[in-house]
Amino acid sequence: MNYARFLTAVSAARKPSPIRMLTEIQQRSPPSMISLAAGAPNPNTFPFQSCSIQVKNGDMLTFDETMMKRALQYSASSGIPELLTWMKNLQKNLHSPPTANYSAEKGQMDMCVTTGSQEGLCKVFEMLVNPGDNVLLDAPTYSGTLAALARQYDLLIIEDDPYYFLQFDKPWAPTFLSMDVDGRIIRTDSFSKILSSGLRIGFVTGPKPLVDRVVLHIQASTMHTSTFTQLMVSQLLHGWGQEGFLNHVDGVIEFYRTQRDAMLSSADKWLKDVAEWHAPAAGMFLWIKVKGVADTQKLIMEKALEKEVLLVPGGVFMINSSDPCPYVRAAFSLSTPQQIDEAFKRLSALIKESL
Ligand SMILES: Cc1ncc(COP(=O)(O)O)c(C=O)c1O
Repeated sequence: MNYARFLTAVSAARKPSPIRMLTEIQQRSPPSMISLAAGAPNPNTFPFQSCSIQVKNGDMLTFDETMMKRALQYSASSGIPELLTWMKNLQKNLHSPPTANYSAEKGQMDMCVTTGSQEGLCKVFEMLVNPGDNVLLDAPTYSGTLAALARQYDLLIIEDDPYYFLQFDKPWAPTFLSMDVDGRIIRTDSFSKILSSGLRIGFVTGPKPLVDRVVLHIQASTMHTSTFTQLMVSQLLHGWGQEGFLNHVDGVIEFYRTQRDAMLSSADKWLKDVAEWHAPAAGMFLWIKVKGVADTQKLIMEKALEKEVLLVPGGVFMINSSDPCPYVRAAFSLSTPQQIDEAFKRLSALIKESL
């Protein structure tokens, strides 16, 4: 693969930050190394000393003074090594990417930590897309075809998959990463829906030459994702092991399955005559197609607000957000089944009024 041909001029021009490189050398060095190089502040001056965080299963994550100093200090732009190692093993087990054992220049699978998957996505787009470029968007059902087309026409595939861990039925759908024959998949994963959204932990997985470019961008922007949150998540994952992690994920899936089913039964109760939908197989949203309403923008952004029900008009997710769109997106993540039921009762009345 000739990765250079995909890079934007800005990305191609990125050079490693010499100061960041020295910081990373320092952190890998034995205590006998005397560093007068890095601009790291002395953590003895920081006001925080130690902490312990209780996990719901009774476990404790403890940061003694030494760990706390590390958590509060600068760290590598690609992420802390123990979190990266854990995640690489998880990716290999979940997706078995053929690229795992390739050489670096042939597109060996590599990873970096990002501040939520959104940061990774944003940096991947800035690495690859110039104004005026054409971008193909897929329909999920045709992933095999898209993978084959990408090989035929030498395209890269960006796989944004934050709801991967919220799939209700097993086996989970095969990912593009699992089909990556020649290192052309860049995948973003998120812990937002399964561990916490505010900690801001996500991952970019892809061929090493491209992950390296994302890391150069991180060096120049945030420097790295919070060391504290990475250590917190890393301790949790090392304590759980992969099995414990996947058990936790199963618990989250069951919560959302119950919520989804509650929303589906309220939809059946209130919306049957005025809308149609499919039961979602993953995630936290029901997509509702309103019958007889060509565009839901006004219905949702004006009338529904007046009736105190918040939904998202489908148009905002479309390529051209001003095109008429009869869809509405309803989240079943946060509201109680009673609230969902009341919301659909109000939505049903609104739709009937507007027909
Ligand atoms: C499709 C999609 N991609 C990416 C993200 C960003 O997630 P994160 O919290 O990991 O930045 C979201 C958030 O909801 C999303 O829905």
